[in-house]
Amino acid sequence: MESSTVRTPDAEQRPVRVTARNVSVFYGPKQSLFDVSIDIPEKAVTAFIGPSGCGKSTFLRCFNRMNDTIEGCRVTGKISLDGGDIYDPALDVVELRARVGMVFQKPNPFPKSIYENVAYGPRIHGLARSKADMDAIVESSLQKASLWNEVKDRLHEPGTGLSGGQQQRLCIARAIAVSPEVILMDEPCSALDPIATARIEELIDELKQNYTIVIVTHSMQQAARVSQRTAFFHLGNLVEEGPTDLIFTSPGEKRTQDYITGRYG
Ligand SMILES: Nc1ncnc2c1ncn2[C@@H]1O[C@H](COP(=O)(O)OP(=O)(O)O)[C@@H](O)[C@H]1O
Ligand SMILES: [Mg+2]
Repeated sequence: MESSTVRTPDAEQRPVRVTARNVSVFYGPKQSLFDVSIDIPEKAVTAFIGPSGCGKSTFLRCFNRMNDTIEGCRVTGKISLDGGDIYDPALDVVELRARVGMVFQKPNPFPKSIYENVAYGPRIHGLARSKADMDAIVESSLQKASLWNEVKDRLHEPGTGLSGGQQQRLCIARAIAVSPEVILMDEPCSALDPIATARIEELIDELKQNYTIVIVTHSMQQAARVSQRTAFFHLGNLVEEGPTDLIFTSPGEKRTQDYITGRYG
C-alpha cells in the first residue's frame, strides 16, 4: 500500500530511480523517522528541507545504508534502487555505496594526494586495467567535478592542501570516479563561503544531466535554486513533496507554508 506522502510525479515524468516505502528509522528505542514514502526521479535534483533535527540526514543515510554503520540504528520499510531491494541481505553493501555515492557536510578528503583520492575507489572496485586507464578515470572525474584545471599540475600534492570548496569538489570527483547512479549530498555547502557555494551549485546543476541527485540543505534558497523536486520534513515526518516551484509557491500543508515563510527554523 502506498503512503499518502507520495504525490504524483511532476509534469516532466522522469523515470523513478529510487523508491522508499514506509521507511521508519529508530535509534535504540527512539523513533526518528516515521513511515516515509517517496519516489526519487532520475537525472534530477531532489532537495530534502526542514528544521534541524527533523530527520533529513537520517533519511538520506537510508539510501546507501550508511545507517548500518551506526550502532543501535534500525531501519524498517523498503527502499529500492532500479527495482532491487537495497536492504536485501544478499546485497554487497560496498557495491551499493559505489552505485549510491555520498558527499558530506564537511569536505573529508583522504590524507593522500589529489590523484589518490580519486583513484582509490576505482582501484578497490577494479575499474582500471592499467595506469593509463586510471589516469583517464582520474582526469575525467576531476573534469566532471569542475576541478581539473585547478589541480592538473599538482595531482600528487595532498588533497587536504586544497581550499574548502576545492576539497568538496575533490570529494565529488571521488564519488563520481566509481560511476555512481545516485549521488547523495548532505549539506555539501554548509562549510563553504558564498563563492565556493555558488561553484558547487553550478556543478550540481551540470551533474544532474547524468546523475540522480538527492541533496539535504538547510537553505531554502539553495533548494529553490538547485532542485526540481523538494521534500519538506518536520519532526521525522515527510509533510509533503512535489515540484520545487509548487512547494515554494503553493504548498499544500500549513506546516510547509509556515516553514518556507520563516515562521520557524
Ligand atoms: N547517531 C544518532 N544516534 C542517536 N540519535 C540520532 C543520531 N543521528 C540522529 N539522531 C536523532 O535523529 C533525529 C533526526 O536527526 P537528523 O537526521 O540528524 O536530522 P537533520 O539532518 O534533519 O538535522 C534527531 O532527533 C537526532 O537527535
Ligand atoms: Mg542533518
